[in-house]
Amino acid sequence: MGIEIEKDNEGNSYVPVPVGKFEANVELISPIYLKIDSKFIKLKNVGDVLEPEKLDFFIQKSLKNIFIELDALEKFMKWLKEKKQEAINEMVQEVGEEHRELVEKREEIREKVYDTFTDMEMDSGVAEILQSQVKEFIMEVKEIDLSQAILAKMLKHNSSIADHSLNTANVAVYMAMVLGHGNYQVLEDIYMGSIFHDYAKMKIPQEVLENKSNMKYNQAIQDHPRKGSLAVKKLEKVRDPVIKIIEQHHEQYNGNGFPQGLKEDEIFGPAMIVAMANIFDNTVMENKNKPKKEKYRMAIKVLEYDKGKQFDPDMVEKIIVALKLAYGEYYIPPSSN
Ligand SMILES: [Fe+2]
Repeated sequence: MGIEIEKDNEGNSYVPVPVGKFEANVELISPIYLKIDSKFIKLKNVGDVLEPEKLDFFIQKSLKNIFIELDALEKFMKWLKEKKQEAINEMVQEVGEEHRELVEKREEIREKVYDTFTDMEMDSGVAEILQSQVKEFIMEVKEIDLSQAILAKMLKHNSSIADHSLNTANVAVYMAMVLGHGNYQVLEDIYMGSIFHDYAKMKIPQEVLENKSNMKYNQAIQDHPRKGSLAVKKLEKVRDPVIKIIEQHHEQYNGNGFPQGLKEDEIFGPAMIVAMANIFDNTVMENKNKPKKEKYRMAIKVLEYDKGKQFDPDMVEKIIVALKLAYGEYYIPPSSN
């Protein structure tokens, strides 16, 4: 990975570090900066810590880089490596030595996604790497007991909800990586949020759910994000971002969604990603008898159509290209930089 050096007006040099490399609540070894309108603003000093809320906020806003001074680069990289090893050891202590490999693998995935994604243009090569990252990630994440249990429960109740949830999770993780999310925790939240997003639909009687003219249909649909989030909140070990995703997966960028009618930046970023993956898979499912190429083409069209309406236009743009490369048999030759 080449180092990109950026200078400010006074000639000071800075180096970008992907947000995903940072951990919350860890004392910093050098000052860190944000780049705002081509100025570098000091965010934290040596010895300060990044608060988890602040880090979550950056990730949610898809901020890619935090900057450090060029002079601090060597010291900083060494420190990052040590912190990474410490985090792995701590985690191993928690889950047992026999899982060390799994813990290291998780860390590796997280790093790889960032390395691949820092400021890279989408092309067929990148899309392919990302797809294999998604596969690796899904293999790891599906070991989580809770997701297994919930999928089994869904399968018993309604196998098409289970299928749809799993498909949504796959596409959502791909979309998230395309948007630069490599933080394992964020990807896991998006995965779990996708698995759970229609949790409350399991409780809707089949005759209501499959009959749009049933009087109770509209109300049941309106209620499912909130009911689902309330039900999942009662389960153990579910993180807040997962709850937020369930509650907001039908909110729309233009404010026409439900249940709260949130708009633009008010919508939690990961929830917007799951919303896009949800619509994508719904369209594919609705056209399941059409040829593969055709149904994906239609699903991509729907997202394109809803750019700036249901979905954040900035997110849609990059995602469309990535979906075409992954599902639409498009080809963009890998750039040679
Ligand atoms: Fe839904």
